[in-house]
Formats: sequence, structure tokens, C-alpha cells
Amino acid sequence: MVASEAAPFAKTGGLADVLGGLPPALAKQGEEVVVVMPRYGSVDIPDAERIWHVLPVVAGPHSYTVSIDQVVHGGVRYMFVDCPPLYGRPGIYSEAGLDYPDNHIRFAVLNLAAIGIARQIFRPDVFHGHDWPAGLIGPYLKEMFAADPTFVASKVVLTIHNLGYQGNFSGGILNDLGFDATVFHSEGLEFWGQISFLKAGIVWADAITTVSPTYAKEIQTPEFGFGMDGLLRARAGKIHGILNGADYGSWDPAVDTYLPENFSAANRSGKLAVKRALLQEVGLPQNDARPVIGIVSRFANQKGFDLVAAVANEIAQMDVTVVALGSGEPDYEDLFRGLAHQHPDKFASYIGYNEGLAHRIVAGSDMFLMPSRYEPCGLSQIYSLRYGTVPIVRATGGLEDSVDETTGFKFDDFTPEALLGSVNAALKAWREKKGWDARVQAGMAKDFSWNVAAVKYKELYANLLK
Ligand code: ADP
Ligand code: GLC
Repeated sequence: MVASEAAPFAKTGGLADVLGGLPPALAKQGEEVVVVMPRYGSVDIPDAERIWHVLPVVAGPHSYTVSIDQVVHGGVRYMFVDCPPLYGRPGIYSEAGLDYPDNHIRFAVLNLAAIGIARQIFRPDVFHGHDWPAGLIGPYLKEMFAADPTFVASKVVLTIHNLGYQGNFSGGILNDLGFDATVFHSEGLEFWGQISFLKAGIVWADAITTVSPTYAKEIQTPEFGFGMDGLLRARAGKIHGILNGADYGSWDPAVDTYLPENFSAANRSGKLAVKRALLQEVGLPQNDARPVIGIVSRFANQKGFDLVAAVANEIAQMDVTVVALGSGEPDYEDLFRGLAHQHPDKFASYIGYNEGLAHRIVAGSDMFLMPSRYEPCGLSQIYSLRYGTVPIVRATGGLEDSVDETTGFKFDDFTPEALLGSVNAALKAWREKKGWDARVQAGMAKDFSWNVAAVKYKELYANLLK
């Protein structure tokens, strides 16, 4: 597997959670999995073993010698490509809100290093790339190294975690990647005059997966297709929607080390203690009878917080408090900062990235809000269910597939009124107590462990190799 993020080593969102959870689940089922990712400056692996010292990687005019450092985690070898001139920086994709200008080279080298690893260290049957940073594996294997007998039987799987991030660069970088003009056409990696890593991944994949069954259908429509719906419709037979799992080793209230108290479906008493501690941590007044709505998110247009902006004043009048954690686009950061400032007894916000607080919000809140415009899978609602925190979600993508009427509240239309309708329904159910416990218990009883998804990926690999 090739990816730009994997928990616990480097994370900006759910992609990392998947790379932390799926490979170990596959390993448990007997697959031998290696994960290849960059060794960023922020990756803290002092005990890594240097398993390969000098691996030459050539991308067009650029030559690097990279080393490979290995950490075994969950029975899986995570191999880190060490190349300080490309990865020895604090950010994963960007710094101070600006993408690194050489991202195309950084991730091209990741793909080439993975192929180098496949040649020298570990020979896979299947190359499984995740999102645009791994999009070039297909064209490298099947065009650049087409004559190499090592890879004649290799299969390529691409998982789309988010069609909104495509890795599009100016057409002028073709040479930087080591390709000539023969791949730069509308059936290749050209996309509206640009070069698209994600399109390359889609075009040259033997199978395409995405992270929920509903999103697999949505991406084939103009509304959700980000300009690639036609391309995807033409490959409909290769597309598989496999719902992500949850890593209950790190996201389970019974074992979560970030919580002041643990709890479980059988004994939920600790949840109230976590709620109280959360309110204290974020400086909101204590009131056991007032429900808390939690938000933990990247602040991106995808996540739908413009709906919250539209109804924030109404929510501030209700008997509810909102605790939000997130970072990203400045407008949304300002929105939540502003709400906490205007309504200090109703809204609390923490702008930034904070793993521990994320766990405490999921655990200590009574409800969890995800009003996404689109959501390929979404993991926080799946975690919330496990913590007895009732999700309020827009019915799209994986939110549609993981939350139902017995476990949460869903709204269809992407409108402030629809959001408000669901929030009101949830608050009413909370106040009246009727059915609330049953809803919490139904959510906690759901099993989204990775084993289920791992079986499906295993089947997919086996079918490709038949
Ligand atoms: P996405 O991948 O689109 O960001 P997901 O719901 O799949 O959405 O995954 C989000 C993951 O990132 C969760 O593990 C969530 O806890 C984490 N996360 C998001 N924002 C933050 C933050 N500001 N601090 C800590 N964790 C965060
Ligand atoms: C993406 C999506 C999210 C999904 C995650 C992991 O970041 O936005 O919905 O859960 O990838 O697949």
C-alpha cells in the first residue's frame, strides 16, 4: 500500500486512520502487507530500523538516493522513504496554508520509491494506492516499466478517499515526472489541460475502490463527480464501494487512554464524568441536564459548516452547548472563534489539531454533528456511535451508510432548515428521554471493526489475481 499518511505516524484526516487500521486487519487475515509512506520531518520514529541504505530514484531530470526505514506496527511493516530534501519539512502537504511547490515531485518520488522497494525488498502481487499522492503507480508500472518482467503480473488498485483532492498540476511538469507526451491525452493523465495524479490513478487502475457504497454511486454523478464522473461512469464495472472500518484498538471508550474515565455499553457511568471533564477543559459551565453537541473536523468546504453559520444564532438560543475542534480554511476558523466569543456560555472552540481533545469530544458529547456537503465515508460518526454519542448527520456518502434512524438523526437537503430540523429532533428526544437510551445502546452495539472491510479487500485482491 502506498499513501501519504498513516496513523499514528502522520495524520491530517481519516486517510491516516484507514492506513493505520486496514493493513493490520489484512495482516490478521493472513495477507502480507507493506505500507510505504514518506518520512516527513514530523514523523517521530526514533526506533525505526534502517533496512535499506541507498535506493536510487530517478524522476525525469531529478535524481535522489533515498533510504528506507522500517517500523513494525500491528503486524505490518511500515516503510518510510527517507529523503530529507523532499520530506524533511514540518508539513505533509503544506506549510502556513501554502502547498509545497514541488508536491508533484515529492509524491512522484514516493510512487517510484515504492516500485523500487517492490523490486529490491518486498515483491507484492498487488500495488494498492490511496488517493492522488499514489496515483502515478499505475502509469509508472504499466507505461514506464512496461518492459520490466518483474511487474508483468502486478495488479494495481486505487482507493479514492476523496474526489475533491485530485493532485492537479500544470501540464508543464510532465518532464519532471519522467513521462513523455505519449501519456498526455484525454484518455491518459491529461485533465482539462492539466496533469492530474488522481485521473492517472483512475485510468491505469485494475480496480477502483471508494470508501462507502453510497459514495461509489455518488461519484458517478455530475453533482459529486468533480469533473471526473464521466471517466468513472465509463469504468463503473471496476468500481467497488467498501465501507471503512474503525480501529477499536484506539477508538473504544473501554480502552481509550485519552479519557479521564473509561466506560462501555455495559457500564456507561463513566461517560458523565468525561462530559464534566470536557466542559471544564473547554471552559463551559457545568450542567448535566444540558446536552453537548460535539464537532471535530477539518474545516473545509466539504464539511458543510456554512449551514452551522446560518443557524448559529438560533442554536445559541437553545438549551444546548457546542464544543468544536478543528482547523483549516480561515473563514471557518473565524466562524467558530467568533461564536465562542459571542456566546461564551454556549459555544467553545479550539482551533488547531489535538488528538486527545478529539477523543474527549467524541466521548464526552451527547451528540456529534456532521452536516457534510459530501462525505466519502466519515469516521467520526462511526467512532461516536461506539462512544454512545448520537450522530446528527447529513444523509450523504458514508454518513448515509453508517447512521440509521435507530442510532442517529439524518437530514437530506443541504439547507439550514433541514439541519435545524434534525438538531431540534435530537434535542427533543434528549429532553423527553424517551428512546434516548435505546438509541445510545443501538449505536454502541454496532460493529464497524476493520475485519469486515478487510474480508472485502481480500476478495477483491483474489479476484484480480485469478
Ligand atoms: P476526513 O478524513 O475528511 O477529515 P473523517 O471523518 O474520515 O474525515 O476523519 C477525520 C479524522 O481526523 C478523525 O480521526 C478525527 O478525529 C480527526 N481530526 C479531524 N480534525 C481534527 C483535529 N482538529 N484534531 C484532532 N483530530 C482531528
Ligand atoms: C477522506 C474523506 C472521509 C473518509 C476518509 C477516509 O478524507 O473525506 O470521508 O472517511 O477519507 O477514507
